[in-house]
Amino acid sequence: MPHFDVVIRGGQVVTDTEIIECDVGIRDGIVAELAPAIEGGDIVLDASGGVVVPGGIDGHCHIAQLSSFGVETADDFTSGSISAACGGTTTIIPFAPQQKGESLREAVEAYRQKADGKSVIDYGFNLIVSDPTSTVLETELPGLVAEGHTAVKIFMTYDAVRLDDRQVLNVLEAARELGVITMVHAENHDLIMWSTERLLKDGDTAPKFHAMAHPPESEREAVYRIIALAEAVGAEIMVLHLSAKEAIEEVRRAQARGVPVLGETCPQYLVLSDADMDRPGFEGAKFVCSPPPRGAANQEFVWRGIVDGVIQAFHSDHAGYRFDDREGKKVRGDDAPFNRIPNGVPGLETRLPILFSEGFHKGRIGLRRFVELSSTNPARIFGLYPKKGTITVGSDADIAIWDPTRRVTLSIDALHDNMDYTPYEGMEIDGWPVTVLSRGRLVWHEGEALGEPGAGRLLRRGEPQTAELRGPAHADDGRTTDNA
Ligand code: URP
Ligand code: ZN
Ligand code: ZN
Repeated sequence: MPHFDVVIRGGQVVTDTEIIECDVGIRDGIVAELAPAIEGGDIVLDASGGVVVPGGIDGHCHIAQLSSFGVETADDFTSGSISAACGGTTTIIPFAPQQKGESLREAVEAYRQKADGKSVIDYGFNLIVSDPTSTVLETELPGLVAEGHTAVKIFMTYDAVRLDDRQVLNVLEAARELGVITMVHAENHDLIMWSTERLLKDGDTAPKFHAMAHPPESEREAVYRIIALAEAVGAEIMVLHLSAKEAIEEVRRAQARGVPVLGETCPQYLVLSDADMDRPGFEGAKFVCSPPPRGAANQEFVWRGIVDGVIQAFHSDHAGYRFDDREGKKVRGDDAPFNRIPNGVPGLETRLPILFSEGFHKGRIGLRRFVELSSTNPARIFGLYPKKGTITVGSDADIAIWDPTRRVTLSIDALHDNMDYTPYEGMEIDGWPVTVLSRGRLVWHEGEALGEPGAGRLLRRGEPQTAELRGPAHADDGRTTDNA
């Protein structure tokens, strides 16, 4: 009888393409066998009644990152990776951000050191390019891509990091030559600045005015423009954190005419709204992120983008700043004007439970689509497929077993990040991962975080494999109706 380190018995194994009742045999951190009844196993995990899925991949999160507000996000690679693992995620790809005037390679080196020996799950870095000099684009970037850092991120707003259109074109051209995707934060900077100036002049400083300073038109214009620039260059892009119906329309139109543009969204645009920024006192600051959560009616447009395939990836954009903290949301004071509140919300641990509960449980998406959005598509986009993003013989045993019947009331007390609040406090969630394995090691099991800092490896990623996940045609294949 073959030996297995771990056997997962009796679950429903879900990948992006199929749902099968079978056991999973794991040896040396790798899926070694999928079969109806696997004998043995040093550790046997009973998954009966459970859903066995590839561990989530969070390709957009900010960990130990110096933000454009000059403050570092609250989680380091240990708290961030533990929190991600406890929510069903087994790979994180935060950013290594280049500051203007700095070498990109040095930025990556600094983040490599920050992460070294700390993460409990595998990780990589996406490269924020804020100063695209010829040395960066012609020497540093090719070297870093060859070493497995195969995605670039650019900003169209935020003074500290934004690029002008000429610089954007240069980055897109370099990315196209290197065969990597450019992730884009798309908002019109001048429209934000213009709106902000007027709001502040009228004394409209409360957190809720952040939403008005970042109107949907600012997102629509920048999304339209980045698509046009990418189309001109022939480069592939992923528009990040799509929040507004207007921006999603631009992506949908571009995809329909065959432009290689991918869409991403995040939990905050499905379950938060501008009303949250209007909570009493400074409470609204907890929800300030960019783009902002829109009006509640907009949420269904984001769902539509998820269901019809315009949106291919669901990441957290975890950018946690503690609320009651001089190094967090209150860095410019207890009552700072909206434009001086660090932008970002936490979400590493709550990302997948929110998608599972609001998407699968409420019948909006099927389990295969859940897997596709949370794991398989990110694995393809970030050059990790099929080592990660699926459960097949030879893939890493990065696996989460979900109990679809478990009801959890979200509360900061039960989460594992380094935050002092969750924007989702009190929210009822149906379905939670009960066991999570990272390359066959238990990192979360029945309420206990078991990951070992340093066990996570820095991943050497390959080229993106996105050809088959583009476009609306992809959605219409039953993934929304397979609620087995
Ligand atoms: O508000 C957000 N999203 N903060 C994180 C930085 C970014 O925009 O990606
Ligand atoms: Zn962004
Ligand atoms: Zn972000």
